[in-house]
Amino acid sequence: MARKVGYIVGSLSKDSINRVLSACLIAVAPDDLDFTEIPIGDLPLYNRDLDGDYPASATALKDAINASDAILFITPEYNRSIPGPLKNAIDWASRPWGQNSFDHMPAGVIGASVGAIGTAVGQQTLRLCLSFCNARQMTAPEAYIQFDPEVYLASGEVTDETSKEFLTSYMQEFRDHVERVLTVLPRN
Ligand code: FNR
Repeated sequence: MARKVGYIVGSLSKDSINRVLSACLIAVAPDDLDFTEIPIGDLPLYNRDLDGDYPASATALKDAINASDAILFITPEYNRSIPGPLKNAIDWASRPWGQNSFDHMPAGVIGASVGAIGTAVGQQTLRLCLSFCNARQMTAPEAYIQFDPEVYLASGEVTDETSKEFLTSYMQEFRDHVERVLTVLPRN
């Protein structure tokens, strides 16, 4: 059965290298994963005063997550953490209290940076948030991508065979993780 994967790019930049990485990941993913981007750029700043009257964009975010079988986060590291818009989206999705959209959700985390650390520190921050939100994260393999514009192309092509094999293996592992979680915790 095909699984619906909602993917969230942590960067709002039109030139995002993480958006390029998302295209490369989708290009090598197993055929039984269907991908839909869940946008986060139009969300207002989270304010708990609005918990009783969610703005339309926040409701759309929760609906998109709830309609997914799994969520894949592809995000840059900003100042050794995650970008503010991504944290904001997680806050919206986690509320109102008792309606946390990440509860038991299969999830994967990956990211690209221009630096050698490849978002390793930012991903730990994201994992902390997702743990609290009770998402079922794939913890291995980890994937810290140092972006090379000659290797990762916006078309989704990966020109270096070793890098392509790594992304392919990551997505196969992600698929297997999703299946394992859904076997125990089926989504309605
Ligand atoms: C960065 N960058 C960065 N890189 C890194 O490896 N660790 C970091 O902590 C940061 N911090 C950081 C903060 C801010 C505000 C910006 C704008 C950038 C550099 C970052 O890796 C680079 O800009 C990437 O291109 C960001 O990914 P997107 O937006 O292109 O997907």
